[in-house]
Amino acid sequence: MGHTFEVPTPGGYVLKRLPTLGVEVILVRGQDGELRAFYNICAHRGNKVVREQPASNASGFSCNFRGWTYDLESRLRHLPDAPEFPGLDPCDLGLRALAVGVWENFVFVHPAGDPPPVSLDDWLGELKAAVAGGPLSKLQPSAILRATAKVN
Ligand code: FES
Repeated sequence: MGHTFEVPTPGGYVLKRLPTLGVEVILVRGQDGELRAFYNICAHRGNKVVREQPASNASGFSCNFRGWTYDLESRLRHLPDAPEFPGLDPCDLGLRALAVGVWENFVFVHPAGDPPPVSLDDWLGELKAAVAGGPLSKLQPSAILRATAKVN
């Protein structure tokens, strides 16, 4: 999914596009310092909650359709038209989470949510031992290159 370098401080987030799954994911560091990942889909009608990236000091995410607002931990914090939704419990209407794991500062997600059907340790398997003691955890991006190319 990415690298912890991309969201080093609480309130930071980046938007990740996962074409193989056909989804967008918000990778965010909460005020408690935890990394979390949420589908970029509002619980109301599926609008994108995040449209711009990145940010370093967000306090939450607000959908631009009818203003449903979520905190950095995915909880629905503001429902502007609450009287129109009698009986709805905001606790049931947070952003949907993916499972997040970090290894050597690389961030992994599993679309099934927490707990994932296979742990990150099991999924990495022998790779962990093969690179143990190496410099992976000390690596930092030195440049970001983006290009559009006509290829087959
Ligand atoms: S789709 Fe987000 S507030 Fe309606």
